[in-house]
Amino acid sequence: MDQERRRVVLFPCPFQGHINPMLQLATILHSHSKGALSIIIVHPEFNSPNSSNYPNFTFLPISDGLSESQQAHSSIHDAMPMLPVLNQICVSPFKDCLVNKILSQQHEPPVACIIADALMHFTQHVADSLNIPRIVLRTSSAITFAVFKVLRGKDYYPIKGTSTGAADLPRVKTNDAEGLPQLAIDMVEQTKASSGLIWNTFELLDQSALETVCQEFSIPNFPIGPFHKLTPASSSSLLTQDFSCISWLDKQAPSSVIYISFGSLAALDQAQLVEIALGLADSEQSFLWVIRPGLVRSSNDDKAYEDPTNFLPQYFNEMIQSGRGCIVKWAPQHEVLAHPAVGGFWTHSGWNSTLESICEGVPMLCWPFFGDQMMNARCVSQVWRVGLQLENELERSEIERFIKRLMVQENNKEREEMVVRVNDLKEKAELCLTIGGSSYQSLESLIDYIFSF
Ligand code: UDX
Repeated sequence: MDQERRRVVLFPCPFQGHINPMLQLATILHSHSKGALSIIIVHPEFNSPNSSNYPNFTFLPISDGLSESQQAHSSIHDAMPMLPVLNQICVSPFKDCLVNKILSQQHEPPVACIIADALMHFTQHVADSLNIPRIVLRTSSAITFAVFKVLRGKDYYPIKGTSTGAADLPRVKTNDAEGLPQLAIDMVEQTKASSGLIWNTFELLDQSALETVCQEFSIPNFPIGPFHKLTPASSSSLLTQDFSCISWLDKQAPSSVIYISFGSLAALDQAQLVEIALGLADSEQSFLWVIRPGLVRSSNDDKAYEDPTNFLPQYFNEMIQSGRGCIVKWAPQHEVLAHPAVGGFWTHSGWNSTLESICEGVPMLCWPFFGDQMMNARCVSQVWRVGLQLENELERSEIERFIKRLMVQENNKEREEMVVRVNDLKEKAELCLTIGGSSYQSLESLIDYIFSF
């Protein structure tokens, strides 16, 4: 029996939007191979996943050497500079862990491959040095990757133009000139050098971009998503999910609530938080709003506030007391989006959130902040046409107008059409995942491929 088993070593990028899909992938590989693939998660100590939620997997933390101040991240401002650092300081600890804790266990099944997040590109050198195949997991859409690839070598970065096309390019708003391009170049190069590429997307959504990537890269591609539909609800949350909002949703009318969350890294300033509150109040819609610790930062000294709700206007808090809205620090997002009371999602357009919304047939109001979110928002609003995009300056009357366009149900043809289209995509996702569907077949091929090493 042991001869038919393999171990697979997974290395996630230690941020929520990357940990979730990596642990979902681990669960999928383990269950779809009926336990024949043993899962080892090697991860930096920083943002360690909760291993007790995954009793079947082995978790091996490696020392990342990050200082306490480097670890005290709460937004993209801190996360982005950390990526090149992690790519340097994890090299030796990861290799040591492989050599001394994994490969040295000769009574265990052979290690078939390493599966690493595309952003953790250093893992290719480590894999090469130990002669282990490496497969890459790309946690965002194929279209963003195709764009990085096509723009590579051309003079597009740092982004200079202000035309629509330039505004959509993947970027980090605060530091466009340096970090992203080099990281993107390394990510693309080391993906090209890998043995395969796994996508959390599905063909009927991302087909032309997947074709572009397949043409450019001579490695096998495995679009097997959406992952979260193949796994139980998230147990990889770094923050505690507050389920009290589900009982609040139970009391609301169907499709009446706008859910608002800007993911785990986006940061607002105090004025933006207040403007959102005022626009929400004026929209007269019910809302569920995730205000996580650190969502608001001071524009003077970049300090993150632990409880940004302190900045909300008094009458807004009274409105919450009266039951029109609910605020939580962190929500069980899958359950929220699947709830019949939720009729729209105001999102920062992170890829996980975008997929999760599509899979529940929830139209979106997109307000992207950085990176792949720009492209995701453009696809949602103009390619798939399952949402709107807030592009002008964040201002209460503009917010009110967009929320009403998204949410009001009477005589709102624009909303009706978005709902039809998003439900069509939802069905396509389901189709891809059923036996014989493209994601299902890709998953079968991926498992065969892993066993072929
Ligand atoms: C980041 C990037 O922003 C994103 O663009 C990239 O594609 C992945 O990494 P993040 O900003 O956190 O991720 O956004 P997103 O991709 O949407 O991931 C957030 C995850 O946290 C989702 O899986 C969502 O379900 C979960 N979440 C979010 C919660 O569980 N509760 C919440 O209250 C909010």
